[in-house]
Amino acid sequence: MNMISRLLPKIESELQNQVARLDQPGTHHFHEMLTYHMGWTGEGAGPEATGKRIRPLMVLLCVASCGADWQSALPAAAAVELVHNFSLVHDDIEDNSDKRRGRTTVWKKWGLAQGTNAGDGLFVLSNLALTDLEAGYSPAIVLRAAKILHATCLDLTRGQFLDISYEDRTDLSVDDYWPMVSGKTAALIAACCQLGALLGGADDAQQEAYRAFGHYLGLAFQAQDDILGIWGDEALTGKSAASDLVEGKKSLPVLYGLENNGAFAKRWRQGPIRAEEVQRVAALLEAESARTSAQDAARQMTDLALENLRVANPQGEAGASLKSLADKLLQRGA
Ligand code: IPE
Ligand code: IPE
Ligand code: MG
Ligand code: MG
Repeated sequence: MNMISRLLPKIESELQNQVARLDQPGTHHFHEMLTYHMGWTGEGAGPEATGKRIRPLMVLLCVASCGADWQSALPAAAAVELVHNFSLVHDDIEDNSDKRRGRTTVWKKWGLAQGTNAGDGLFVLSNLALTDLEAGYSPAIVLRAAKILHATCLDLTRGQFLDISYEDRTDLSVDDYWPMVSGKTAALIAACCQLGALLGGADDAQQEAYRAFGHYLGLAFQAQDDILGIWGDEALTGKSAASDLVEGKKSLPVLYGLENNGAFAKRWRQGPIRAEEVQRVAALLEAESARTSAQDAARQMTDLALENLRVANPQGEAGASLKSLADKLLQRGA
């Protein structure tokens, strides 16, 4: 069995233990909202509904690739996945999305108020999970880990601020894209790799190389996600393929299309894209090379990620798994 297959069940049970903190008399239904979102309960529960668990895998593989024991880092792995899931629950509200991982989103199922609160619950659980690192690490390391995670959450909210505020702006170019995705997506993936290196006992320079690997991987990953958000197969992404265009998201292909200032940009300036127009508008974008430009950009970021991974010099089976996970992420089916 490969290392990723061995880690996944350990991650799942650590997450279940962390989320169980919330299972208290009188509020079982609240716990159920969280276990539904995590993919463990309710209609459609199962491996498809949990998501890929990339971020906790990154943490543990980075720890192990520094030659350290990954078991004691499990609370950090759970913490980053809980941050990710908190951000998804809130992101689906912010993006007006009704589908996530092929299932009805939490806020569509239980309403806006309960959806907001469920996201808050996941956020607080992530902070509590991190404090469990004290069983295996010195207080100084736990504090350092907490600072990394909290700074990341702030970057994430800044990225979401930009993403949301861009919806109404008409003056944006491709250069405005990278600061936005750097916050909303890359910050957390960078933190996963840095946390892994920290808990693996790496020195500052090696931690920085791991962090940079995660940063560029995150940028490439979001660029790829944006391409899938327009041309992806809904059955594979579990998200609606129409919604990015309908919501007016300044995704990477859209920004390339706007810069091109041709038929796509002309249509975009006329007002919101309707669901029935999505295919035609996507075809305009493709004809204007916006899809290939976005793919080229994703490839450039991937190269930078792999360059930094070489500097980080991950060791052993974990090192090889880290590289294959990165490859797999960047080839998600479109
Ligand atoms: C989705 O991330 C949100 C983005 C940053 C694009 P993932 O694709 O890692 O989500 P799950 O957890 O596997 O569903
Ligand atoms: C992903 O945002 C980043 C966060 C959830 C913070 P998107 O809105 O681009 O991702 P999807 O397509 O909904 O997963
Ligand atoms: Mg969003
Ligand atoms: Mg979204």
